Amino acid sequence: MTRHFLNLSDAGGDAIAVMLADAMDRKAVRTGWTKGKADSDAPLAGHTLGMIFEKNSTRTRTSFEMAMKQLGGDSIFMASGQMQLGRGESIADTARVLSRYVDAIMIRTDDHAKIEELAKYASVPVINGLTNLSHPCQIVADLLTIAEQGKALPGLEVAWLGDGNNVLNSIVEAAGIFKFNVRIAVPQGYESDSLFITAAQAAGATITLTRDAAEAVAGADVVVTDTWVSMGQDHAHDKIAAMMPYQVNERLMAGAKPDAKFLHCLPAHRGEEVTDAVLDGPQSIIWDEAENRLHGQKSILLWCFGLLA
Ligand code: CP
Ligand code: NVA
Repeated sequence: MTRHFLNLSDAGGDAIAVMLADAMDRKAVRTGWTKGKADSDAPLAGHTLGMIFEKNSTRTRTSFEMAMKQLGGDSIFMASGQMQLGRGESIADTARVLSRYVDAIMIRTDDHAKIEELAKYASVPVINGLTNLSHPCQIVADLLTIAEQGKALPGLEVAWLGDGNNVLNSIVEAAGIFKFNVRIAVPQGYESDSLFITAAQAAGATITLTRDAAEAVAGADVVVTDTWVSMGQDHAHDKIAAMMPYQVNERLMAGAKPDAKFLHCLPAHRGEEVTDAVLDGPQSIIWDEAENRLHGQKSILLWCFGLLA
């Protein structure tokens, strides 16, 4: 069976736990000036990841490229607009052709249906590097970042503020898998996908929906937000106005537990969804979170190649 990673549930809780442990082990031996150094076991030597980007990226592209390099493999960056995909070649044909060249495909696309189509026709693993629906690789890094803080996932209280977007969907999915709770405060009209919420609730997570930012944050262990305007969306004035009560600032953070941490997948829009004081403040662990994209990608790749769990 080809191991695709379109959502967290493709791997499941046991495999993700193994992935997190492996990511921590690999990270632990990287001390000092080891950024460019290969992992000593080079488990992906001779393997190449093809990466298709329909949208911009700093973290996902760089961390996957570095992950492949450090695991002894290689990667190819493909901007979809410069591929025949950008002038009408079908996803199915692209999947069939790329499967003859590369050993796995990562895609960042505006439409989740496209990644499902790609996975259907690819004979190599397909990895979700963000779609309109979900961002599972980000959440692997987030779970790693939370675990590094010594916080147990079961029973964790996570507060989400702002837009009900792709990142939130994957957090909610993770909540169902690891039995933590998410309190979601988003303005009317910007709610997240109810299918993810229903599935997480059925799996035993408590997902609370509120319009009150302070209520969502009260007693939280982790406070999370993301841009109010995701890639491909309009920077509409009325949306920004509706989001303002959900800005994560020092006053709001003060309602969380004293040792609460702040997460943001980045890029941040400083002064919109979060203030400088929070982003750069003592509770923020965003740079660890960004670094953990690298360690997380390695474990995702190794799982997809059948080398983990
Ligand atoms: N968080 C994240 O996916 O960042 P990029 O858009 O820079 O890849
Ligand atoms: N929700 C954001 C995440 C960016 C990493 C977007 O889709 O643009």
